[in-house]
Amino acid sequence: MSQKTTIQMNTGTVKLKIQRGLGADPSTTRYDTFEVPHEDGMVVLNAIHYIQANIDPSLAARWNCKAARCGSCSAEINGKPRLMCKTRVDTIEGEITVEPMKAFPRLRDLVTDVTENWRVAAMIPAFSPRLTAGKEWRFYQKDVDRSREFRKCIECFLCQDVCHVIREHESDYIGPRWVVKAASLDMHPMDGLNRSKFLKDAGGLGYCNITKCCQEICPEHIVITDDAIIPEKERVVDRHYDPLLWVYRHLPRNEVQFEAQTKRVLKLVFWVALLAPVVLVPAYYLLKALGLAP
Ligand code: SF4
Ligand code: SF4
Ligand code: FES
Repeated sequence: MSQKTTIQMNTGTVKLKIQRGLGADPSTTRYDTFEVPHEDGMVVLNAIHYIQANIDPSLAARWNCKAARCGSCSAEINGKPRLMCKTRVDTIEGEITVEPMKAFPRLRDLVTDVTENWRVAAMIPAFSPRLTAGKEWRFYQKDVDRSREFRKCIECFLCQDVCHVIREHESDYIGPRWVVKAASLDMHPMDGLNRSKFLKDAGGLGYCNITKCCQEICPEHIVITDDAIIPEKERVVDRHYDPLLWVYRHLPRNEVQFEAQTKRVLKLVFWVALLAPVVLVPAYYLLKALGLAP
């Protein structure tokens, strides 16, 4: 049996050390220790419920589904961001320490204020259907599957919590959850928008240094870094830093574009031919006067 030292074999109990406190003020922080009876298949949230019902009803914790679906019961269990309803007590070694997510301000005990996420969500350019002028939308299953992975997200924000950029630095980085959201739209077969400029500038994607910590802890097993962040970083490079692709994107695709491009190039040649003598000749004589030209 996989039971480890968490369950006191002689008493059949589980010991939990839980962080308590009011608001973000660290001076109110304390740790209370509780011992609760063990039951087969018990998860950390069961122990929290037992404490609330039988020992200390003032213990605050957020939850809704108890089925790893709503993303409400996120916390740090022995320092690792996890869902309390998906973490079996018999899989943890030693005493179980439960703390609120550190990347968000604490409201009370294990409950944090995650409203910052809704501000970021509103910044992401929405789904914008490609112009198909009355044509039926047709796409392949493999194209659907690519963005479907990202829609498994339950918005638990554990990935935001584990990300060191969000946790330890003041930056504009929107965080892994929101790169996943942008990728789900960018990779939708019928979306016509490119969100690389948003991710590069307002989204602060350059701050992510691909440590993959977010990918390791996602309870939905979304391959956050490899499938969302890296492809979005590649799009940013292709779109904004690759000179060959820049030229390719600006090549005329039809007669009208060809005509417009030709006019633009001719205008440029005309202005260069007109202004070159006006600028270059005086510049030459100036340099000559300074002894810097032959
Ligand atoms: S891979 Fe990027 S987003 Fe994920 S935890 Fe590391 S720095 Fe944060
Ligand atoms: S991507 Fe995963 S870890 Fe991040 S919010 Fe969604 S489900 Fe949670
Ligand atoms: S209670 Fe819903 S995810 Fe844990």
